[in-house]
Amino acid sequence: MADPQIGVYGLGTMGSALALNMAENGIRVAVSNRSPDAVTAFLTEAGPLADTITGYTTFEALVAALPVPRVLLAMIPSTGPMDSLLDKVIPLLAPGDTVIDAGNADFHDTRRRTRRLEQHGLHFVGIGVSGGEAGARHGPSIMVGGAEESWKQLRPILQPIAAKYDNVPCVAHLGADGAGHFVKTVHNGIEYADMQLIAEVFDLLRNGLCWPTTQIAQQFTTWNDGPLGSYLFEITGKVLGYSDSHTGQAMVDVIRDAAGQKGTGRWTVIEAVKLGQSATMIEAAIAARSWSSEKETRKSVAEAFGSQRKTIEFDMDDLEPALMAARVMEYAQGFRILEAASQTYDWELDHKRIAEIWRAGCIIRAKMLDDIADAFGSDLPHHQLLMAPYIEQIVKTGVPRLRKIVSMAIAAGFPVPVLSSALSWFDTMRQPRGTAGLIQAQRDFFGHHGFDRIDGIDEHHGPWWE
Ligand code: 6PG
Repeated sequence: MADPQIGVYGLGTMGSALALNMAENGIRVAVSNRSPDAVTAFLTEAGPLADTITGYTTFEALVAALPVPRVLLAMIPSTGPMDSLLDKVIPLLAPGDTVIDAGNADFHDTRRRTRRLEQHGLHFVGIGVSGGEAGARHGPSIMVGGAEESWKQLRPILQPIAAKYDNVPCVAHLGADGAGHFVKTVHNGIEYADMQLIAEVFDLLRNGLCWPTTQIAQQFTTWNDGPLGSYLFEITGKVLGYSDSHTGQAMVDVIRDAAGQKGTGRWTVIEAVKLGQSATMIEAAIAARSWSSEKETRKSVAEAFGSQRKTIEFDMDDLEPALMAARVMEYAQGFRILEAASQTYDWELDHKRIAEIWRAGCIIRAKMLDDIADAFGSDLPHHQLLMAPYIEQIVKTGVPRLRKIVSMAIAAGFPVPVLSSALSWFDTMRQPRGTAGLIQAQRDFFGHHGFDRIDGIDEHHGPWWE
């Protein structure tokens, strides 16, 4: 067999799926794994695809098999194991070789590793791969960082394996060093917000309108055929349709209500705050996951204060436009963080391109991303998505309805952290004169911090000490 084009190290779920995707697209792949048994098992699983795959039982043999300049993709935890791998691989590589981290990495680590490899004349490329196992196997959305030069080398490998939207591959080089991993982090933040939004709607339908789960499943399927169409709505319709073989109950009802989180959503919020930004819908979603895991505390609080909620009534026709508006705001908040990071790290992120590569393959793929991509194609005041004409219309139609639903939910005792934070953010942003004058006055009073006056008079302190 001719030389492999790429080495894939780490044959866990995602690494195996990516390697098989490559093989299926005619790319010659060399693979290896920390435990050699996994290599044998993988080659068996590959079946006829194994014809374009060569397996190596040691990492050193894998590296030696790659032609120069080498391209080595690692799908291993992007924390300590990635640094240990670099310790091991740097002495084996030659200037011009590339190491790819395809995991969910903290982009600060990616920037640090990029500088480390640069000192040896090597390239380090962080790529965000979204779409779960099925995406990695049949077409993920791929967010690429690193040097332009590396992108030229990787493009022939990544374009064939990426998801396609209107035949265009959902992969793009987005900027230098950690740009790919940063965009993936924000993708996950939006993913968290969207999942929590769906959970809040489920609660309102289930416990507010008292619908059976099967009817809610059908509702999500119906929504998925309309403008709310998206992967997460589609799978929610499916998930809610399943029942548990042990109890006969809806499957969702027998799952412990304590959500896990690996951390990427949290990074979005941490980085947003560091950038002087805020993404309240993402913050609310993370808070909801964290509170959900305090199961025992919730039981005690319920005993002390009661957990009764009133049933509610609202016009179902209001819900679709209300959710359209709320979801647009999730994206608006996410893209605002991307813009802040782009300016801070000189990435020149292309928002239109990012929206385009999120249209297929990834977890947050949604019909509305096509309109969002168009919106970013025009000149937007302050890069603010809400200011695009079509998006503005969605917001104008949806917000009054969202307001009605959120008010009712709150009055009846339903927690709606994501839906309500959408409104608070929107209502803040539509006030040309807010309340921060008072905050400034307080700061000046207790700390002599000073303020600017609205009339340009050159005085920066209040009369508090006179
Ligand atoms: C994707 C997902 C994926 C993520 C999982 C779990 O884009 O394919 O974002 O990368 O790791 O969805 O994330 P949490 O454990 O943080 O929910």
